[in-house]
Amino acid sequence: MSVKAIILAAGQGTRMKSDLPKVLHEVAGRPLVSWALGAVHEAGIEDVVVVVGHGAERVTELLPDTVTVAVQEEQLGTGHAARIGLEAMPVGEGDTVVVLPGDMPLLTAGSVAALLDARAGAAAALLTAQVADPAGYGRVRRDASGAVAAIIEEADASDDEKTITEVSSGVFAFDGAVLGDLLAALEPDNAQDEYYLPDVIARLAGDGRPPAAVRMAAEELTGVNSHEQLAAAGRLMRERINRHWMAAGVAMIDPDRVYIDAGVVLEPGAMLYPGTHLEGATAIGAGARIGPDTFVRDSVIGSGSHVWYSVLRNARVAERVEVGPYASLRPGADLADGSKAGTFVEIKQSTVGPRSKVPHLAYLGDATLGEDVNIGAGTITCNYDGFAKHRTIIGDRAFTGSDTMLVAPLEIGDDGWTGAGSVITQDVPSGALAVERSQQKVVPGYAERRRKKAQEGK
Ligand code: UD1
Ligand code: CA
Repeated sequence: MSVKAIILAAGQGTRMKSDLPKVLHEVAGRPLVSWALGAVHEAGIEDVVVVVGHGAERVTELLPDTVTVAVQEEQLGTGHAARIGLEAMPVGEGDTVVVLPGDMPLLTAGSVAALLDARAGAAAALLTAQVADPAGYGRVRRDASGAVAAIIEEADASDDEKTITEVSSGVFAFDGAVLGDLLAALEPDNAQDEYYLPDVIARLAGDGRPPAAVRMAAEELTGVNSHEQLAAAGRLMRERINRHWMAAGVAMIDPDRVYIDAGVVLEPGAMLYPGTHLEGATAIGAGARIGPDTFVRDSVIGSGSHVWYSVLRNARVAERVEVGPYASLRPGADLADGSKAGTFVEIKQSTVGPRSKVPHLAYLGDATLGEDVNIGAGTITCNYDGFAKHRTIIGDRAFTGSDTMLVAPLEIGDDGWTGAGSVITQDVPSGALAVERSQQKVVPGYAERRRKKAQEGK
């Protein structure tokens, strides 16, 4: 016997009022549909069909090749979508088919596994939850014996039924041999004129084959139909992710203000201050201190580094590096061990060698710095001539004076110096000093003469 899954992801998500198909909205940096896929994969289900419709191309684009895509041209309801999904995959005797919505990011693999266990003893099983506010969810009606009798959608529920607080998650597991017939028998005779997948439950119960119900944590049920619910799901996921990393040894002063995407990796001993955002493929080393108020996307920060009040995108920061406050590390910024990018420093497509310092008010673009370089305050690589970008190469132990303009292409040799305020347009040989500025003129007694002139009314 094998287990297969159908993820329903064709809906428009009207209540999102967005051009983006609903299942592409993200929670912790991962689209809703990918969370659904993750939960079934983690539960050991490899055979997956995703039913797409609204924005079919955009949804298909981000699905892995291992997934089968079925297109539901017209969104006639979850029962209709499940039928389209089932048609796209061969299901045999003894197979189990899990059907789940693509808009429930907090569903865990553990609950899917519990559902499969329950399904082993019944023709079908469903996940339910006990909630304080059941509004919007299908209510689980049970008979006098406590067995599940039907799922009543909100739009079709009587006032009495609306008070039921056990709701359906929309996650089901079926005996593959019966699902096809159940779906074929559905009728759209309800308030929304849709084919409701949950209607198969009443049919099974009526046939004397009551489905098994498994309760899961209410949190997992959180569906995303509006931006308010997207934010609520994001908050719950953030709590889950932060709990995970704190248990793994990462310190957070105020976890409510730390935002970590699903794909981020941290080593124990890292310390995250409030206002830290870690996004995309980011990795943080042991003992690194990040924040406050720092945004890091697709970047690596090595152990012992300190990054505060800064923005990093596609940057690499090695070990024991000091970044910020107020630094911007753009794509291709590569800072070696023990280096520094300090206050109001912007670095792009540049390598800063071991122990080299860029402490204040500088721009480095398309530059390569050796070891133990000191970049003076206000130094700028003039890398763009209006048509093309040019490189600046700075040798080991070189020293640029404050407010040096380095007009690229340019090379400063090892131990090369530039004088403060210089516009350097020619290479500086090793060990040499290049100064480019006019001689200073000194006028003695100037202040006294100036005052006299003023007193004489001139
Ligand atoms: C659905 C359930 C409800 C359950 C709730 C849990 C039905 C009729 N209702 O309600 O019992 O409590 O989920 O969150 O099933 N979809 C399609 N094609 C369609 C319609 C929907 O693929 O024709 C997809 C949507 O993209 C979505 C999922 O099915 O991912 C659920 O649809 P949605 O409209 O969100 O159903 P709910 O009203 O939330
Ligand atoms: Ca929903």
